[in-house]
Amino acid sequence: MKREQMKENHSPFNWPHMTGKELYYIAEPKFNGRLVGDGPLTKRCHRWLEERTECNKASLKRSSTAALEVAALLLEIQPCDEVIMPSFIFVATANAFVLRGTVPIFVHVRADALNLDERLIEAAIPSRTRAISPVHHADVASEMDAMMGIARKAELLVVEDTEQWVVSRYKGNALGQIGDPVAFSFHETKNVTSGEGGALSMSCPEFALCAERICKKGTDRSRFCRCEVDKYSWQEAGSSYLPGELTAAVLWAQMEEADAIAHTRLACWDFYPIMPDSFEQRGLQRRPIIASEFQHATHMYYELTSAEVDCQRVVAMQDSALTRSIAKVNWLQ
Ligand SMILES: Cc1ncc(COP(=O)(O)O)c(C=O)c1O
Repeated sequence: MKREQMKENHSPFNWPHMTGKELYYIAEPKFNGRLVGDGPLTKRCHRWLEERTECNKASLKRSSTAALEVAALLLEIQPCDEVIMPSFIFVATANAFVLRGTVPIFVHVRADALNLDERLIEAAIPSRTRAISPVHHADVASEMDAMMGIARKAELLVVEDTEQWVVSRYKGNALGQIGDPVAFSFHETKNVTSGEGGALSMSCPEFALCAERICKKGTDRSRFCRCEVDKYSWQEAGSSYLPGELTAAVLWAQMEEADAIAHTRLACWDFYPIMPDSFEQRGLQRRPIIASEFQHATHMYYELTSAEVDCQRVVAMQDSALTRSIAKVNWLQ
C-alpha cells in the first residue's frame, strides 16, 4: 500500500479532546489584564497538581522537556556525570541531561510493561552516577518500590518522567508522588493538554525555591513579588521556562475534566483488542500487560506482533475498531 493511501485510510495519530470550556477560560486573562505566567489561572493549575500528587510545590513549564531541563539544573549535574534511564524512551529524557554534558546510561526495559528493568540497574551504576530517571511508558507505572530502594542505597536522586498523567496510580499512590522532582507533559498527544505544556512537581522545599529562581531567568523576582525582598537581582544561571496565562487557561479547562477524560478513554480501551486470543496464546501477538496493583490512565494502546503477522492488516482492523469505539462513546459529539 502506498504511504499516501495508508495515511488516508488510517485514523489520526491522536485527536486532542477539547472540553468546550477552553475559550471561556481564555477570556479570563483578557479581562483581568494578566497574560504573563504565574497568574491566577496558572496558580489554579498548580494547586490542582499539588493536591493530586501531594507534593510540596508544582509549577507549570512550557513543556515536559523544559521541566526535565529544570530538573537537570536542580540536580546540579556536572559534565560527565551519569544518569540511568530506560533504553526505550522518547528523546526528551536523554536530551534534558545531555544538554548539561551528562552521559545517559541506557538500561534495558522489562519485557512486560516496557519500563526500565529495575533488576538491571545496580549492575549499571558506575562511579559518576547521579540519578535514575524512570519513564512510565504508556502511563503504566515503573517498579518504583524497587527503584527507590536501589536509589536510597546508592544515594542517587530519582527524576520521574511520568510523561502523561496523575490519574494513573502505583500501589495507591498517584504517579508523580514518588520520585523528586517529577516531570509531566501536557503536549497535544497527552490525555490532558494545553497544546504544548508541562509541569514539574517537587517534594524537597529547597528544590522548590531553587526552581523558582531558575525559571525566572535566575533571579529572585518571585520573592520580590511576594514582598520578601525590596528589589530583585540575578542570583544564578537560569532561563525562561514559564508558560503564559493563555496556556494555563486551556490547561485549567482540561484539568477540571481530567477524571471524565480518563473515564472516556477507559471506555475506548476495551474496543482496541480485536485479534483473537489464540494469536496471543500462539505467541504471535502481545497486548499491553498491566499488573493488577497499577491503575493506568489508558494513555496508549499498543500491540507487539511477531514477524509472521501482517502488521498492516492488524493496523487496518484496529482502525475500524477505533472508529466503532469513537462512535460508541460519542467522543467527537
Ligand atoms: C517520556 C516522554 N517524556 C517527555 C516527552 C516530551 O513532552 P513535551 O512535548 O511536553 O516536552 C514525551 C513526549 O511524548 C515523552 O513521551
